[in-house]
Amino acid sequence: MTQTQEQTVPTGDTPFVPIEKIVSLCKRRGFVYPNSEIYGGVSGIYDFGPLGVELRNNIRRFWWWSMVQTNDNVVGIEGSIITHPRVWEASGHVENFVDRLVDCKNCKRRFRYDHLPKENVRLNTCPVCGGELTEPRRFNLMMETYIGVLEGERMKTYLRGEASQNIYLDYDNVLKSSRVAIPFGICQIGKAFRNEVTPGNFLFRQREFEQWDLQFFVHPSEMQQWFDYWKERRFAWYQSIITHKDRLRFRAHGPDELAHYAKQAFDIEYQTILGWQEWEGIHWRQDWDLSRHSEYSGHDLSYTDPETKERYLPWIVETSGGVDRTFLNLLIDAYEEEPPSGKDKEGRTVLHLSPMLAPVKVAVLPLQKNKEELVTTAKELHHKLRRLMVCQYDDVANIGRRYRRQDEIGTPFCVTIDFTTLEDQTVTIRERDSMSQIRLHMNHVPAYLLERVRWDYSV
Ligand code: GAP
Repeated sequence: MTQTQEQTVPTGDTPFVPIEKIVSLCKRRGFVYPNSEIYGGVSGIYDFGPLGVELRNNIRRFWWWSMVQTNDNVVGIEGSIITHPRVWEASGHVENFVDRLVDCKNCKRRFRYDHLPKENVRLNTCPVCGGELTEPRRFNLMMETYIGVLEGERMKTYLRGEASQNIYLDYDNVLKSSRVAIPFGICQIGKAFRNEVTPGNFLFRQREFEQWDLQFFVHPSEMQQWFDYWKERRFAWYQSIITHKDRLRFRAHGPDELAHYAKQAFDIEYQTILGWQEWEGIHWRQDWDLSRHSEYSGHDLSYTDPETKERYLPWIVETSGGVDRTFLNLLIDAYEEEPPSGKDKEGRTVLHLSPMLAPVKVAVLPLQKNKEELVTTAKELHHKLRRLMVCQYDDVANIGRRYRRQDEIGTPFCVTIDFTTLEDQTVTIRERDSMSQIRLHMNHVPAYLLERVRWDYSV
């Protein structure tokens, strides 16, 4: 991977994982591939391989489970990527969704103006070679597309620049078709597209990526309490899925960063070798979205309280994060190269992913592949388990190497079928992090595993 000029290395001795190690693991083990690689690739666009798609699905499902399924006052939608073009005028994206870009006249490197260190802005110099910078130029990030086939009848519109707009568009339909009343929320997970001027740092800044949003509609008088509530809940959610809890923090937006309608905004940030970076934004959107869409569409989106009959435009608390940043941060957080020890003489690379999110939950391993009874018993157990959870069967190489292969992709449990199994139907279950082993009757293995890989979140 080519590192962009934006990469910063934190001070101190904390052993942050170099992004290249994650990139290499992802390619080698089938998590992430560069898109269109045989044609030379496209910057900022990636595909997800067999393990990547499992991890992604688990991340999405966990978010959905904890945000929609387990909250009575939250429902979900799935909106389209292409919408009426007026949507993006109303949202302000056509006019304001711009990045300012500068080039170094000497080394030709390109930078986002708002990412330059203050000193380089002051001196108008390149942070890498000290050369002179060009004047900032504005670039709109929206990706254009066209609806219709005939020249002259084609309508220019955009691939959505943020997924959340669908929620405002469907708000009135949800109100009328579901049994919800304010305060309530609408969630969505969906792709977004941005012509990022400096895509980079692997999945961190892409041109096609996936977002998850909660838009929570409230009475204006209750805005502060719901803002605080979701801010704390989202922080606790991220804490629950990482190991390095001290690498998570809030950062309040300064007055110069706040959108004109926002009274407050916080980023939940995670610290990696790239420094502290946004993972999710908690935004105080007030009535900006519903008032703009009311104005631009001519459709009144105000709400009538069923009891008091008060009519008002609801205010909105937004929590907006990224599936891809979660994917990347979880891999970084989970990655460890363990040196040789009493337990593992060769040392190993291990992903300490939470069992509920790990792409493969269990591997079934016959001790030897040339002993037919071991293989038959192992395959029978594999067939039983794969109906319940993602399960791999592996009989290639010695058992130590097979354990290490599973450790590297974060498989929390390995079940080994050995000669004792043939006598008393017990198997060995090895746990990834501690490498400890227990023996269990084969009939109890499904329940034992299901209890340990189920969704677990009680915040
Ligand atoms: N509706 C609000 C919104 O879109 P944002 O801060 O621009 O806010 C929300 O995006 C989240 O989407 C970010 O916190 C990040 O996780 C993710 N995200 C934004 N741009 C991204 C990109 N170019 N590549 C990957 N993820 C991105």
